[in-house]
Amino acid sequence: VDRAPRLAKLVVITGTGTGIGKTHFAEALLLAIGQVRSRVIGLKPVETGLREATVSDAARLERASSFHVEPFGYMFAESLSPHLAARDENDPIDMESLIPLIGEVRDEADLVLVELPGGLFTPLSDLIFNADFARDLRPDLTLLVAPDRLGALHDVIATTRAARSVPLPIDGIVLVTPEPPDSATGRNGPELRRLLDIPVLDPLPRASVADLAAHDTLRAVVAVLTR
Ligand SMILES: Nc1ncnc2c1ncn2[C@@H]1O[C@H](COP(=O)(O)OP(=O)(O)O)[C@@H](O)[C@H]1O
Ligand SMILES: [Mg+2]
Repeated sequence: VDRAPRLAKLVVITGTGTGIGKTHFAEALLLAIGQVRSRVIGLKPVETGLREATVSDAARLERASSFHVEPFGYMFAESLSPHLAARDENDPIDMESLIPLIGEVRDEADLVLVELPGGLFTPLSDLIFNADFARDLRPDLTLLVAPDRLGALHDVIATTRAARSVPLPIDGIVLVTPEPPDSATGRNGPELRRLLDIPVLDPLPRASVADLAAHDTLRAVVAVLTR
């Protein structure tokens, strides 16, 4: 009997912006899933700002992965929106070529995590935004990371409303406790639960990747991904 190849679950990690904890959370999620699945891999198919980064996101994700592939994707030196870095380096981002490459990894892995650069509506080209890329990847789970600080209500509500227009389903909101916290820290989660019909996970504390991997919020995501 011919069987369709079992496609690995695909998780997309995106956010309301840059420098908010997407990679940190993704690393912890890879470690957590790595405890129950053997071939787990994190990819950063488009990355900018490599000149200033001490460690690239791609390398951080690879370090937290238990399954490895030949590196691929777009890596730009400048800290710029991907569409601008791509324009400056005359190396346009071709989403149509990335999707089958990620599909090949999916054929071999138990779980593939893709971290998108910047925020959900960061441009990859003049026509394609992260949200379009995420939609075309057909993920099993899309998580939106946001800092648990003043302004988060606007950023999360605007982003999830805009995602609906793509359409890209957002399956969960992950709030990250900022350092230092502000007057809104701790208040956003309950409000987003009242205002949105999307699950809002318990906020991530400031903690090492290893400690976060054992946190209840990470366990909850692993449970969803392994059921
Ligand atoms: N929950 C957290 N606890 C401790 N440090 C964190 C946490 N989330 C993010 N950081 C740190 O904040 C910085 C930015 O986070 P990062 O994950 O690189 O953001 P993004 O991927 O959204 O650009 C990194 O130095 C990271 O280690
Ligand atoms: Mg990152």
